[in-house]
Amino acid sequence: MAKIIIEGNHVLEGTIEISGAKNSAVALVPASILSDGKVTIDNIPNISDIKALNEILEYLGATVERKDATITIDSSTIENKEIPEKISKKLRASYYFMSALLGKYKKVEMFFPGGCKIGSRPIDQTLKAFKLLGANVVEKDNKYIITADELIGNTIYLDMPSVGATINTILASCKAKGTTIIGNAAKEPEIVNVATFLNQMGAHIRGAGTSEITIEGVDKLGSCYTEVIPDRIETGTYLIAGALMGNNLRIENVIPDHVESLTSKLIEMGVPLIIKPSTIIVSKVNHLKPVNIKTLGYPGFPTDLQQPITTLLTKCSGKSTLIETIYENRFQNVFYLNKMGANIDIKGNLIEINGPSKLVGTQVTATDLRAGACLILAALSATGTTTINEIEHVLRGYENIVEKLSNVGAKISLVE
Ligand code: EPU
Repeated sequence: MAKIIIEGNHVLEGTIEISGAKNSAVALVPASILSDGKVTIDNIPNISDIKALNEILEYLGATVERKDATITIDSSTIENKEIPEKISKKLRASYYFMSALLGKYKKVEMFFPGGCKIGSRPIDQTLKAFKLLGANVVEKDNKYIITADELIGNTIYLDMPSVGATINTILASCKAKGTTIIGNAAKEPEIVNVATFLNQMGAHIRGAGTSEITIEGVDKLGSCYTEVIPDRIETGTYLIAGALMGNNLRIENVIPDHVESLTSKLIEMGVPLIIKPSTIIVSKVNHLKPVNIKTLGYPGFPTDLQQPITTLLTKCSGKSTLIETIYENRFQNVFYLNKMGANIDIKGNLIEINGPSKLVGTQVTATDLRAGACLILAALSATGTTTINEIEHVLRGYENIVEKLSNVGAKISLVE
């Protein structure tokens, strides 16, 4: 197991360039198999989740070429076969292959997906959509066998605006017969990125980014070029790093609108921000006001920044509260923050953070991706040295995090 060692309390100055969004890229790569031609995707992050998806593509027989941040996928040679559980359980996004294969071949056999252990994460809404499109779903042990004579458009109202169910429904329906309407759709920018990609291939998808998405099925999808949007969660993580330790830290290649729920909270706390069209400059100040935060689907405060911002809340003078509404097990970072000197109480799905606390380096563990990001932020602002174990979780989602932080003055190293 790899670990990261950080000597804390060093000022962060200079520029951090944001990579392509993990949660877009992990949907665009499986979506590419719907094309009968070659697709090129630019700004792909170099993270282990993408390597796992490429492994699936190659297992299915696609040709994948990667040059720097550009990936070209030719799926014309793929074979629709069962994806082994040991590859599909490496990540949540493997289930985008379920819908893409179903959409293309009307048949798929696949296992329940993996992903961070932050809650039960059922896939009932995705399966409901497949059934409403006319598919037969058989579940045996951990495996799903999904078949359809034909997929026919329908109205699918999601019980909750699930990102995964929205993308899966788009992928399964874009080659279906007739019109599909997704009600109560998720509105995350990653969904717009996926819909734009499919439209560039020849799909007819309208309304992505709103709560009602309409998909007119088409027979054929062809070649195209697209770009992954900047990662709003990586942007947020480094903005928080800047609020903790920055001196005019420049975060570049950002879409400020995508992080407004965070920047508005930072401003409320008293963090000085200079927001330009694709750059945000952030600095540390000594006194921060406590705030109350509740996680919500986009454009609300993202659950994926809930753990990272907890580190900053330990620095506010007074009591802050944070309510997690999306996942039932996303407070595993709290034990380790308290071990570093924070004063946080867990009360069901709410935590109370009593600050300001001085954090001190020690041994901690990254239990999941964003918990790991939270602990890296804590280590950067702590006195002494922190060792963060099981850092593989973080490498799934943050491109070159060690290099990016070293370049702006952090004393950080990865020990394999
Ligand atoms: N849900 C259901 N049934 C479903 C689908 C979802 O009950 O069929 C519930 C989930 O249990 C959860 C909520 O709905 O309580 C939201 O789940 P959603 O489907 O939106 O999440 P996801 O698609 O599995 C994606 C990201 C997550 C991010 C959420 C934000 C990917 C690969 N993952 O997950 O990213 O937290 O959206 O809603 O895009 C991360 O990057 O660290 C991460 C966990």
